Amino acid sequence: PPMAPPHASHVGARDGLQNEKKAIPLPVKLDLIERLAKTGLSSIEAGAFVSPKWVPQMSNSSEILSHLLEHPPSSPRPLTFSFLAPNIKGMDAAAAILAQHPSSYETETHRLAFPPSTTPRKSSKPALEMAVFAAATESFSQRNLNCSIADSLARFRAVIAAAKDADLRVRAYISVVLGCPFEGADVDPHRVAEIATSLLEMGADEIALGDTTGMGTAPRTKELLTCLRSAGIRNEDVAMHFHDTYGQALVNTAVALEHGIRTFDSSVGGLGGCPYSPGASGNVATEDMVYFLESLGMDTGVDLDAVADIGAWISAEVGKPHESSVGKAVLAA
Ligand code: HMG
Ligand code: MG
Repeated sequence: PPMAPPHASHVGARDGLQNEKKAIPLPVKLDLIERLAKTGLSSIEAGAFVSPKWVPQMSNSSEILSHLLEHPPSSPRPLTFSFLAPNIKGMDAAAAILAQHPSSYETETHRLAFPPSTTPRKSSKPALEMAVFAAATESFSQRNLNCSIADSLARFRAVIAAAKDADLRVRAYISVVLGCPFEGADVDPHRVAEIATSLLEMGADEIALGDTTGMGTAPRTKELLTCLRSAGIRNEDVAMHFHDTYGQALVNTAVALEHGIRTFDSSVGGLGGCPYSPGASGNVATEDMVYFLESLGMDTGVDLDAVADIGAWISAEVGKPHESSVGKAVLAA
């Protein structure tokens, strides 16, 4: 049978920008999200309700969420906006904004259709998603969340319950699944499967596997996914979040596709990085991901020329070299 088309989800307005030291003006962030919405992406991560002391760049996420509810960007497809929440304080801040805009978001289509819907959207309301983020190693959990894995899972139980009460979809990241900056490449896939199972049992709709350091290789990606499958985790509940530090993101994407995974994160221009993962570079570029998926005959529904333009523009805005090979090639052609 033909392969189901993939979801190209975009994390650029959060992961792509969170690591930038210089404050990026709110209008630039909103412009980025609005431009991305027009390209056909099905999901855009737009901010993070985290401590402004820890990640100052995300401190205007409340304004971003309010703006998206008050002025929903036009998009060719049903669109989900996603925001990180590390604890109930972050979730409560998001819920307070939602309470001010009670009928501004979809409450019935909050589960991403699988395969993704290509029917034109009937409503201009976006769906919303909250994302919790666990880690596969204790060292990374301490650095990123200032608590143990077990404590983080206890916090996420409350966040997930509150998100479900507000009719939100829930994504649950697990970071450093293929390599930890503090514990090395040898991360136990069984531990990842246990954490994923707990998060799904709490009500998470999707597990996003984060190769935070980009240390993942093709054989270890295969081993991890095989281990998750043996633990009873369904492919449609899994998304891959590859950083491209070692240039292996598309190779690992090929392995995941062959395994049956269909949701892939990326960021225009290859921007991104986690402040608590020293040396790790950006997410795999959206331009490269879309080009690769389309080269396999898969219809992403995403306009490659448009994302290439956005990648060049936002790289210049944040004063970074443009890291997407495909983006540069498309713009030069
Ligand atoms: P903590 O210091 O242990 O928190 O940090 P606390 O509960 O003790 O509170 C300390 C202060 O922070 C208090 O303020 C709280 O009110 C405030 P004070 O009384 O001192 O003025 N606070 C908050 N403020 C706003 N929003 C909140 C919030 N929570 C507490 N939600 C905490 C614990 C979890 C808050 C902190 O560690 C944190 O914010 N961490 C987030 C780190 C982060 O954002 N990392 C990057 C995202 S994850 C990532 O990039 C990986 C990913 O891309 C996948 C991959 O690549 O693997 C997703
Ligand atoms: Mg990341």
